[in-house]
Amino acid sequence: MSAAGLFVQSYSHDPEGVFSAPGRVNLIGEHTDYTGGLVLPFAIDARAWMAAARNDDSVVRVVSAQRPGAVKTVALEDIYPDSPAVRSWAGYLFGAIWALRQAGHQVSGFDLALDSQVPTGAGLSSSAAVECVTALVVSNLSGITLAPLEIARLSQQAENDFVGVPCGPMDQTASAASRAGSVLLFDSRAGTVENIPFNPSADDLAVLVIDTKVTHSLADGEYARRRASCERATTVLGIRTLRDLSLDELPAALDKLDDDVLRRRVRHVVTENDRVVQTVELLRAGRISAIGDLMVASHRSLQHDYEVSCPELDQAVDSALSAGAVGARMTGGGFGGSVIALIPTELVETVMSGVNADFAMRGFTTAVPRIVAPADGARRDE
Ligand code: GLA
Repeated sequence: MSAAGLFVQSYSHDPEGVFSAPGRVNLIGEHTDYTGGLVLPFAIDARAWMAAARNDDSVVRVVSAQRPGAVKTVALEDIYPDSPAVRSWAGYLFGAIWALRQAGHQVSGFDLALDSQVPTGAGLSSSAAVECVTALVVSNLSGITLAPLEIARLSQQAENDFVGVPCGPMDQTASAASRAGSVLLFDSRAGTVENIPFNPSADDLAVLVIDTKVTHSLADGEYARRRASCERATTVLGIRTLRDLSLDELPAALDKLDDDVLRRRVRHVVTENDRVVQTVELLRAGRISAIGDLMVASHRSLQHDYEVSCPELDQAVDSALSAGAVGARMTGGGFGGSVIALIPTELVETVMSGVNADFAMRGFTTAVPRIVAPADGARRDE
């Protein structure tokens, strides 16, 4: 049921507005956003929709099309981290309201109906979509105008401090600030974004996201450990973020680190930032298919140096490449989730059946394909 339909059914009146925010994939620039790096994600055409109206009862009511059941009602004053009243799937949503109020915004009660079409557990940022749409709905209908980067910042705060997942800023920024027909160059050190035109179909290419069906959890500690490694390296090197290290300075910096694991983590981040720069140059020069090698180099670096891949992701990349993809890499946090592959349009079927034949041979769960195209970030729809 649509968000508006669910709203009317649940609250017996019309919503004041319907808004949406998308999931995302990352073209390149992985595990760099929490250490000042460059990323190049784009919003996908799977969105979280939210119909909403203010209420005068100082409570937030929520209902979700994906979680049939009663309306959940929480008093505004009971919305805070670790509150016993909000231990549920709705944490992303309550977290965004909490972050808005933390920032000093006056927010009344709200009735909300959510219909999220962003697949969960696929590494496509379903949580960022819910956070961003909530932050946009509640600010907009409260008469508060927030820039996309502010929506993203509050949404990341919801995820970090309310839900308790130590993610970087990429996913929320992509969900809030993307534009159809482009990838989003986000410089997390400068806090700036730029939309770079990206239209693979003009070159007879398609972007295929291959969901390995391996579920990942950023909360499981590995992600936090990678962040901690980056922080340790910056301390040893006497710099603020790993972005402050250029490719030229890398060999000397690696000499200063006495731990091999730390050296490989740093090498990944520094070379990945450089791959983003190269990717942007190629896209600006209209040479989309030339980015394939950079995608593969990114995957190998994540696989061997950063060690955030898994057998299913590696297999999906290898199978896609041998079936004719021009580039493929894991996308998102890793340890499961999805691979993004750039494929000549006529080979999409071949690649997918190649991946699944190899998956069957290895006893892996069948992977799920999805063709994606760059979509708009968070917006008001009605
Ligand atoms: C997850 C996090 C992002 C980013 C990626 C890795 O998606 O939420 O902030 O760190 O992993 O690039």
